[in-house]
Amino acid sequence: MENKRGSFGSKFGVVAAVAGSAVGLGNIWRFPYIAGENGGAVFIIVYLLICLLIAIPVMISEFAIGRHGRKNVMGSMRQVAKGKMWLSLGYLGVFAAVLILSFYSVIAGWTLNFIVESVKGFSGMDVTALTANFNGFVNSNEPIVWTLLFLALTAVIVLCGVEKGIERSSKIMMPMLVLMLLGMSIYSLFLPGFGEAFRFLFKPDFSKMTWDVVLQALGQSFFSMSVGMGTMITYGSYIKDKENLYGVGATVALSDVLIAFLAGVAIFPAVFTFGIAPTSGSELVFLTLPSVFSQIPAGQLLSFVFFVLLFFAAITSAISLLEVPVAYLTEEFNIKRKWAVVMGFVVIGALSVFCTLSLQDGSSLVVGGDSLFDFFDKFTSNIMLPVGGILVSVFVGWFMDKKLRYDQFTNQGQCAVKLYKFLVFLVKFVVPVAISILFISKNLF
Ligand code: PHE
Repeated sequence: MENKRGSFGSKFGVVAAVAGSAVGLGNIWRFPYIAGENGGAVFIIVYLLICLLIAIPVMISEFAIGRHGRKNVMGSMRQVAKGKMWLSLGYLGVFAAVLILSFYSVIAGWTLNFIVESVKGFSGMDVTALTANFNGFVNSNEPIVWTLLFLALTAVIVLCGVEKGIERSSKIMMPMLVLMLLGMSIYSLFLPGFGEAFRFLFKPDFSKMTWDVVLQALGQSFFSMSVGMGTMITYGSYIKDKENLYGVGATVALSDVLIAFLAGVAIFPAVFTFGIAPTSGSELVFLTLPSVFSQIPAGQLLSFVFFVLLFFAAITSAISLLEVPVAYLTEEFNIKRKWAVVMGFVVIGALSVFCTLSLQDGSSLVVGGDSLFDFFDKFTSNIMLPVGGILVSVFVGWFMDKKLRYDQFTNQGQCAVKLYKFLVFLVKFVVPVAISILFISKNLF
């Protein structure tokens, strides 16, 4: 079975692919900003605790389901769970992957455009010019081309298969990403704004410690670690029996957090050097940074490196998202991988075009007051991932065959044995209760 399906060949390959999925747009611009705004070190401590006590157990639970099931999300659920009810987790996973990739590729497409723009250089453009440039770009039809190009590149990698496509590309791109980020961080150490940036990111500010900060940290950890929607079930199904699931989960979580820290260290010193407000989200990356790059020495080279690394981060996450529906179509409907990829590309491509258009001024693609893009973003992060997280933990904690769970978590008693009881306690009680609180308070209040 393990030979007929694809599988990740080496330990480094597993970690590169899984970390490739986890490290993405969510780490590079969202984490540093959220950390800075929500109390710096305080947020980071809460975030680390949440990763350790909630996100890692969910990730290992997903791996366990996938590695035992040895199938796509739906097929794996059918293998491990009795009754049709749990198949809802499978549907949820495929659906969430399609929706997330539809808006994710829009931003990822922008990074491709900005790679080209940075080759041309931003010099001579002040913030007003850059803003006009950016707005003109978003309101034109150009982003559609970049979005579809990004999706096509993602499709090509997925088409090449689990080992030759996903694993191999992650093994190349992830180390390069780390090197580029390290290079940028070292450069940033020498900028005058480093001290201020460091304080913004890491100085503990206990007055900012509120319930909402905890909730933000929980949401961020789920999105950032790609858990709660079956990506890790799908990737788990490609992990060989000998790999230590806890080891993989912990290594990936550590890399995810470290890369998020490094991103903060790389980005903010430049921003503070010019006294620019550390604005959030897409603005920070696509407006503030270009204006900073246009003013610092070697800014053009840096901006090129930065957008290439952002692209690498995005595409290694995007392939993990596309693999979810592709594995589902090939295994559940006996469709050839080639056609499954084409179908995924067409459906997600169409949705992503709508997402792109919904960001244009005066667009009528609005759902409940939000652009289609924001709606997909909020619906997946605030509803689908938490629901998925609860389903995974309740299933693995309460309904999964105990021997099966033990064998998967500990490789038949060979590793993580001492941690086993604690992990099960987390999965049974802490994870579902904590996520339920997040879910209820985010959606009801
Ligand atoms: N973890 C990715 C990021 O941080 C996004 C992602 C979410 C990828 C869910 C796969 C599944 O950008």
